[in-house]
Amino acid sequence: MLDINRRHFLKVVASAGAAVTVSTALGGCSSLVRADNADTVDFTHGVASGDPTTNALMLWTRAVPKNNAKPVITLGWEVARDPSFSDIIRSGTATTSARRDYTVKVDVQQLPAGMSLYYRFVGHDQYSPIGEGATLPQQGIDSIRLGVFSCSNYPAGFFNPYHHASQDDTIDFVLHLGDYIYEYGAGGYGYDDAERIGRTFPDNNNKEIVSLDDYRRRYALYRTDEGLKALHATKSFIVVWDDHEIANDTYKDGAQNHQPDTEGDFYQRRAAAIQAYYEWMPIRPPQGDASLQIYRSFELGDLANLIMLDTRIIGRDKQLAYADFTDASTGEFDSQGFQAAMQSDRSILGKKQLQWLVNQLAQSNARWQILGQQLLMARMNFPAAIIGSKDRSTIANKLLKAAQLKQARANGQQLTEQQQRYIDTVTPYNLDAWDGYAMEREVLFQQVKQMGKKIVVLAGDTHNAWHNHLTTHTGEQIGVEFGTSSVSSPGMETYLGLDDATAKKLAQALPTVIKDLQYTNLHERGYMVTQISKDAIDNEWRFVDTIKSKDYQLSGTHRAQFRG
Ligand SMILES: [Fe+2]
Repeated sequence: MLDINRRHFLKVVASAGAAVTVSTALGGCSSLVRADNADTVDFTHGVASGDPTTNALMLWTRAVPKNNAKPVITLGWEVARDPSFSDIIRSGTATTSARRDYTVKVDVQQLPAGMSLYYRFVGHDQYSPIGEGATLPQQGIDSIRLGVFSCSNYPAGFFNPYHHASQDDTIDFVLHLGDYIYEYGAGGYGYDDAERIGRTFPDNNNKEIVSLDDYRRRYALYRTDEGLKALHATKSFIVVWDDHEIANDTYKDGAQNHQPDTEGDFYQRRAAAIQAYYEWMPIRPPQGDASLQIYRSFELGDLANLIMLDTRIIGRDKQLAYADFTDASTGEFDSQGFQAAMQSDRSILGKKQLQWLVNQLAQSNARWQILGQQLLMARMNFPAAIIGSKDRSTIANKLLKAAQLKQARANGQQLTEQQQRYIDTVTPYNLDAWDGYAMEREVLFQQVKQMGKKIVVLAGDTHNAWHNHLTTHTGEQIGVEFGTSSVSSPGMETYLGLDDATAKKLAQALPTVIKDLQYTNLHERGYMVTQISKDAIDNEWRFVDTIKSKDYQLSGTHRAQFRG
């Protein structure tokens, strides 16, 4: 079976069409390109840039021909020091075709380090919008600021957090930690307000996306959002995928939201999803478009080694689920079986990526080791009795009660044996996160400890904001975790059915219940700005007051510092 599936994967990837243009040329004359060679096109989805190095940057656009007769479309491109393009430092030509959905990617080389630049594409008689981007700095910079995002769901709301960051000139680069799109159809997750706010799916893309065309159309829809377009046009992105770029709760051989009976072969779907991702995102896949490998690293001067991980696709063993250890008729939980499974040799990164990560950490002399990845890495334990709650609307009150009991005990009050057991018998609340792969997490943490290093983990996926300590099983802190809220996906407040006041109360109480938790926000959408400097990492969570309208305000911020 596997061989056939692999063949499917190769077949789909092999048909991806014209390759990325790699430019090493130092000159070129764009006016000639425009007059003689370039085709007449519509730049339908703006411009984007990404995967900066100290001397290269990927440029992206989409150029749909006005005359469909030509199989291959030729364009010019220009990189300049100034927005009026009087000082063009690189230019050249690129091609595209229907085989890559008319997306264009140019890997511009031999650029100066630490440079802010302007770029545009050139058609026969028109220019694309102008984009701003940057290369990575060399040694000796004082600080660098990253805008950190995850989880944008189109029907759930306007991407105001993207828009807000596009207006902030102090943000140097954008990190996107995945769930850039969602695969669901009309009426699915996040769709409750879609009609009211005018964010419904078009007729040709309103089912769950499965085929290459489906995924391409979904990216095309998301890229019509003004906030996202503005952010791509103003900042260079560094991206990784999470699960929804393929299907909910993806792992290496399947996904919770993939049904082979009705949706076909998983590997074929995954290949289609990845092909569309590489076409539409301004990323330089480290092993090329035909490889699943997205994990890679970036040196941010001598300040930080930014390590981007794939916890989803390349090596993840299937998630455990409490339901799999619960007897459906009696409701009895097989605690021994569950513990045995948790302690087995299950992987979230895959052995090869884990080894690569450990080597990265060992070999880097940068001041900070920053892990950009999808899921919460910290230990997030709840009282086990609450996890089993059938009625989700009761969970908030139970957590508030647990916090009260723990506080009372901390204040010296005597609890009954039953109360003690209730708050001390804890279990991870999300087995899809690193908590479900606790053995591998401990292997990583022990390596970090032995190296005498501290890690800074940036996480997405949960749709809420978190600040956690990262601790070994004996409680030694080996790092810190900053989790960003979602751009627009509904969070815990929706899942548990909380009004704002209760969500705030619960957010205040949760650090008492969850040992390593320092702060959370459970009800507002937003993003983070992570400032890296020699002395400290300063993290700011920013929240917007609404995503249901394009008129929004910043509703609040929260700050935390880590000094290593
Ligand atoms: Fe998400």
